Amino acid sequence: MIDIDDEVSPDDPERRNARALKGVSREKPPTRTLVVVPWRAERPTRGEGADAPAATRSLDARREEAIGLARAIELAVVADFPVKLREARPSTLIGEGKLAEARAVIEAEEIELVVVDHPLTPIQQRNLEKEWKAKVLDRTGLILEIFGERAHTKEGRLQVELAHLTYQKSRLVRSWTHLERQRGGFGFLGGPGETQIEADRRMLQERIAKLERELEQVARTRALHRKNRKKVPHPIVALVGYTNAGKSTLFNRLTEADVFAKDLLFATLDPTLRKVRLPHGGDVILSDTVGFVSDLPTTLVAAFRATLEEVIEADLVLHVRDISHEDSAAQAQDVEDVLAQLGIDPKDRHRLIEVWNKIDRLDPDHRAKLLEEGERPSLDAPTALPISAVTGDGVAALLALIEDRLNRDRAVFRVEIPAWDGELVAWLHRHAEVIERQDREEVVSLRLRVPDQTLDHFRARAGRFIREVRGRAVASPEVEAEEVETPGGYDPLA
Ligand code: GTP
Repeated sequence: MIDIDDEVSPDDPERRNARALKGVSREKPPTRTLVVVPWRAERPTRGEGADAPAATRSLDARREEAIGLARAIELAVVADFPVKLREARPSTLIGEGKLAEARAVIEAEEIELVVVDHPLTPIQQRNLEKEWKAKVLDRTGLILEIFGERAHTKEGRLQVELAHLTYQKSRLVRSWTHLERQRGGFGFLGGPGETQIEADRRMLQERIAKLERELEQVARTRALHRKNRKKVPHPIVALVGYTNAGKSTLFNRLTEADVFAKDLLFATLDPTLRKVRLPHGGDVILSDTVGFVSDLPTTLVAAFRATLEEVIEADLVLHVRDISHEDSAAQAQDVEDVLAQLGIDPKDRHRLIEVWNKIDRLDPDHRAKLLEEGERPSLDAPTALPISAVTGDGVAALLALIEDRLNRDRAVFRVEIPAWDGELVAWLHRHAEVIERQDREEVVSLRLRVPDQTLDHFRARAGRFIREVRGRAVASPEVEAEEVETPGGYDPLA
């Protein structure tokens, strides 16, 4: 077992004591952090935008993302340090020359924590800590830490803790890792009086088993809620996307709600559900979910399965992409990988719409071209739609496309309304999706689709004018049963 604090230079007792006392604290002052970004030169270095087949990442984007991740838990990033990896060394990941260079930076800048933007084996992590005399957090640990801070619901917290413990189990040898949640977090960065783990695997295992039981209970409650929601025939539309793609911003715009949206990675961890009205009055439940990142630990995907069940069960999945990001293609690939792990076919065009967000950041020509394509959503249109969640461009088209997708299996009615009944015609335009309209001398002939919750009213008001029905006309038996009782209000023939 290696005790990090004992490794601090003996000729620097003050610093050692200070470190031993406060550990690496996230309280003021923020932890001085170096972000080491290992990258492989032989990989192509630029994503080509939305259409690029290859999922690649530029070094700059990697650096930016790694720094963003570190800042997401309020670490003070003092410097970043790219390291070209020719081959991964089993003992330290990176080569001796770079190790020494990094050490010089760490000493000169009084770095307390080194974030290595790469998964590390426990041995690599230990050796790096020894070499650098600073705490080391790998990408997986950092992501877990962020998730821990962002989990708000009971289920979210349980899931993160479970993922965390599973990860810790492989790292029990590390002296500063602790099990107790002394500061309410899950604490890779430790807290005051860091608890020594005495290799207590049994205790870990018991805790894991307990968490699993609690999670099962929460999952049952959630399943019950979902079942109840299903009684109300609102389709579920789930937002997914790479972290920072703009899901919360879009969610807010669509729901006019004030959900926490700011430039913090993983601002959203637990799903948020809101009702959204479609252009012709149908309601859907919109669900905002956790952002994905590359190298998302598999334990975490598994842990979040229950939360992501909203996505698994969704009628429609909106994959929100930051189309202005140079690594947009690589990010999309990462999201598709996670979707596939959840059993959702990313190529299923009936279930998935790609939302190309942040077009306001593109040059005007590119934007205009994308918008023009997006303005013609139809059953056969491509399933990608350019929008800006910030300016609102394309959002109306997106709502129309959602409606169109959800309604595509729905019955199409042909009605012929007496031409004098302008009020009924106007009502139909407001409450149904009119696909076609022909104005003849005596009648207005319409082909239209009707949202489930309007079917009874529609039948009551326009039933006698229905000339033809194609497809499934009734969403659920309850709707049909209610229909008999709701003919009140306006009767066009009265
Ligand atoms: P996670 O919670 O990390 O998954 O992020 P998210 O996908 O929910 O992203 P969020 O909505 O928090 O937006 C991230 C950042 O992008 C914020 O600073 C937003 O203001 C910005 N943003 C979102 N949509 C747009 C857009 O259409 N245009 C521009 N310019 N910025 C946007």
